[in-house]
Amino acid sequence: MLTEYNLKMPHAVYGGNNAIDKITQILKIENVHRVAMFTDKGIQTSGLFTLPESAVKAAGVDYYVLDEIPAEPTYTAVQNLVDEFKASGADMIVACGGGSVMDAAKLASVLVTNEYGVKELLDDPSRARKCVPILLIPTTAGTGAEVTPNAIVAVPEKELKVGIVNENMIADYVILDARMIKNLPRPIAAATGVDALAHCIECFTSNKANPFSDLYALEGLDLILNNIEKACDDPEAMDAKNKMQIAAYYGGLAITASGTTAVHALSYPLGGKYHIAHGVSNAILLAPVMRFNAPVCEERLAQAYDRCCHEELKTCHTPQEKANWVITRLENIVRHLDIPTSLKEFGVPREDLDGLVEAGMQVQRLLVNNMRTVTAEDARNLYLQIM
Ligand SMILES: NC(=O)c1ccc[n+]([C@@H]2O[C@H](COP(=O)([O-])OP(=O)(O)OC[C@H]3O[C@@H](n4cnc5c(N)ncnc54)[C@H](O)[C@@H]3O)[C@@H](O)[C@H]2O)c1
Ligand SMILES: [Zn+2]
Repeated sequence: MLTEYNLKMPHAVYGGNNAIDKITQILKIENVHRVAMFTDKGIQTSGLFTLPESAVKAAGVDYYVLDEIPAEPTYTAVQNLVDEFKASGADMIVACGGGSVMDAAKLASVLVTNEYGVKELLDDPSRARKCVPILLIPTTAGTGAEVTPNAIVAVPEKELKVGIVNENMIADYVILDARMIKNLPRPIAAATGVDALAHCIECFTSNKANPFSDLYALEGLDLILNNIEKACDDPEAMDAKNKMQIAAYYGGLAITASGTTAVHALSYPLGGKYHIAHGVSNAILLAPVMRFNAPVCEERLAQAYDRCCHEELKTCHTPQEKANWVITRLENIVRHLDIPTSLKEFGVPREDLDGLVEAGMQVQRLLVNNMRTVTAEDARNLYLQIM
């Protein structure tokens, strides 16, 4: 376990019933003149956007809507959006959406400058300086992007997704209102829920795990393992959905204090090259990578079992049995939620294997966090397993 660690987090988070109404108060406190509201067409179509929009209107503040954000945008798509944002003259950002919208908004919050653009931040993330305050409202549960200092963009020329990390992108305000995820379509709830699950279990078994990340990763894991199916299957299960929203937030805190591992690392080329949704590519890799890791993190997985498997289910005794229970539970969740378990339906040809291995091995930022060293041969075997 690390001997040095830290945790930086948003200045304030508001949750619970009608939390969206807090927007009005926040805008008054910030004394802003013009708000840029980031969202996307999916949120607009679902009718969800009217909630934050009404709260902004109630503050009597002028606002401008940017909703041309594609899912999992490229860095050039984000730069176009940033240019539009800069021209809007807004002095605060309110972003309402999934990870794609929140990441684009986070980048915009550090890009009201002509000194650097998104491309320059890809080369040198340390250049990012906060330019305007930002409030994030997640509509998936989820990426945890509302908490983290990370923004992920697709880089087509590298056929990869790349994370830009700088603490200046940590949000000033976060609002967790379960109404925003109530009608999330089941496939999106499932994939984003498994993404949050991956954040928790990867951070708990990361070389960078520490007391802060363990606290949030384990609590998030407990909430997800015991609520994810219900939250996805039953549109009325507001208690389970609330717990998923909080767990996704905890997953984001665990990422901030620690870091994800080989699941996310090997998943980036699948998003970058084949445009497989982030949650789906993680779900496909989750159990195979955790099985690969098990020999070196059995004790950690056993701890996760002790914390998350509740009395009536407890039948395992040895660390090996407990670790196996956790990994089997991951497999069962992915299967129950009807998320693909292999790359078959995405038309990934076997000839692409070398390229995938090469691209996956580039994600050393995360691979170094993996407790079991991942060689190119290991990456090849893992990709082969899911082909
Ligand atoms: N910054 C981070 O720390 C972090 C962490 C993990 C993932 N990510 C990134 O986040 C992105 C993925 O975000 P995501 O998984 O939240 O999905 P997303 O933001 O890409 O949204 C997926 C689709 O769901 C729709 N949608 C979202 N919420 C909805 C709702 N409540 N009702 C109806 N439709 C809704 C959107 O319109 C979109 O079409 C990826 O680019 C990924 O790399 C970032
Ligand atoms: Zn993720």
